[in-house]
Amino acid sequence: MSNISEDNIIIRLVTENDKEGWQRLWKSYQKFYEVSFPNDLDDFNFSRFLDPNIKMWAAVAVESSSGKIIGMINFFCHMTTWDFKDKVYINDLYVDEGSRVKGTGGRLIEFVYDEADKLGTPSVYWCTDESNHRAQLLYTKIGYKAPKIMYKRKGY
Ligand code: ACO
Repeated sequence: MSNISEDNIIIRLVTENDKEGWQRLWKSYQKFYEVSFPNDLDDFNFSRFLDPNIKMWAAVAVESSSGKIIGMINFFCHMTTWDFKDKVYINDLYVDEGSRVKGTGGRLIEFVYDEADKLGTPSVYWCTDESNHRAQLLYTKIGYKAPKIMYKRKGY
């Protein structure tokens, strides 16, 4: 397992002791998106993050002085017809309101880049709302804006 440590923040994959801290941010993330998932889904997600047979992970940003989890990123690997190698998709990213604009969001994404490289699947992508300008300030620095638009099946 790799760690990215800078200043007072350590970025690392979750362990079973991180559930409460991860869940607190997962709930805040849902509030940000004005959605509410059942607690069962939290349990299901967390068990997938820890299962070595499932290519879905979460990493957290931990304040080393306090041990508090102040950021989370959830990501998974999937196949694609466009390459022999899988791609990595970042599903969710969240940093505590009081800890933002200090580089943590960027470090969480860089952690995923490193994990993707180690997996041999360096292609990493994600999407965000058109209206999420704050996140896009970060994303245009750490990635590039792909010339795509997203469609969804009606009702889902
Ligand atoms: N004024 C000026 N610049 C800003 C501002 C602001 N208000 N907000 C952000 N920025 C810029 C900064 O310049 C900074 O870049 P820099 O490091 O080069 O200076 C960058 O945007 C922010 O980078 P970080 O500090 O690395 O990111 P942060 O820790 O603030 O986390 C995040 C960013 C995750 C988007 C955070 O704001 C957040 O949790 N927002 C709510 C949830 C959210 O939007 N999540 C992403 C949804 S998309 C997805 O989940 C895939």
